[in-house]
Amino acid sequence: MTKILAIESSCDETAAAVIEDGKKILSNVVATQIDVHKKFGGVIPEVASRIHVENISMVIAECMEKAGLGIEEMDAIAVTQGPGLIGSLHVGVQAAKTLAWAFNKPLVPVHHIAGHIYANRLIADLKFPLMALVVSGGHTELVYMKDEWSFEVIGTTQDDAIGEAFDKVGRILGLPYPGGVYIDKLSKEGKNIYKLPKPHPEKELDFSFSGLKSGVLQFIKRCERNNETFEPADLACSFQETAIACLLERAEKAMKQMQPKMIVLAGGVAANSCLRQRISELVSEKFPQIECIIPPLSCCTDNAAMIGVAGTIAYEHGVRGDASCTADPAFEL
Ligand code: KG4
Ligand code: ZN
Repeated sequence: MTKILAIESSCDETAAAVIEDGKKILSNVVATQIDVHKKFGGVIPEVASRIHVENISMVIAECMEKAGLGIEEMDAIAVTQGPGLIGSLHVGVQAAKTLAWAFNKPLVPVHHIAGHIYANRLIADLKFPLMALVVSGGHTELVYMKDEWSFEVIGTTQDDAIGEAFDKVGRILGLPYPGGVYIDKLSKEGKNIYKLPKPHPEKELDFSFSGLKSGVLQFIKRCERNNETFEPADLACSFQETAIACLLERAEKAMKQMQPKMIVLAGGVAANSCLRQRISELVSEKFPQIECIIPPLSCCTDNAAMIGVAGTIAYEHGVRGDASCTADPAFEL
């Protein structure tokens, strides 16, 4: 039975987990910095790295204690090598390298997005070819996996990531950081009645969200100019529905083109209640032959369990890092 200690520190969560056989969570600890960054309305990279340094040893110690295991009992140490904030990534990578060296364990560098995709393995056996709709604060991608541990990015955003758009619109609406979850909640009280721009990038599987975000801003300015009032819940709902319609249009095209056996959601925005519902409806109505997997809410936003699952598969595929392994903020899948 393979046991992996995984470490994740790519943005504003310091996290460690112990995963058995790439499926079972023996422990999963996340120390979030959200309350600190809330005050600034977004993540301050320098502050994030300092808090990672303060927290990482305690998070790892707590994780091992909860698993009831020692590091000497691990088969490998997996860590997010990138992409993410350089200073934040360095903290996790250095911690993992030190432990790997001190305990003479293999080091397994993992791509953050591979982690988000493989989080689905905690609830289902993945079937290939697989399509992942990756929706997070830094990424919006369609990833085609012909087979285990093979990644092909077939669509990506030309500007903002979807989570970034949610957070920016949240800020425009005066909601706390990160805005995604608050827009989700507020939308439940509103209706999709305002028409907002829906960008159509040239490449048919690509995404674009900056025009939609500006559309929300312009809508508010127009209301102010004309002394008109608007209902924030309706605006939140209209934005959310439009953004999700953009995602699903591309996902539908990708499913038609690639005919995967399974589609999975991945990343923080996979926690969005509207997206979860709409993608299930789309797949059951138009692609009943494709299995649709939606990760549990606890595994959508950043955590180390997902890095442990991906790390196990990477370990089995012979992925190894040596003493020269370093954080790579632009790490490619
Ligand atoms: O994957 P993640 O934790 O970090 C990155 O790798 O970027 O994703 C964070 C993003 C944030 O933009 C956050 O607002 C968004 O996920 N998010 C949501 C929801 N929960 C988190 N967006 C929309 N609806 C939600 N319920
Ligand atoms: Zn993430």
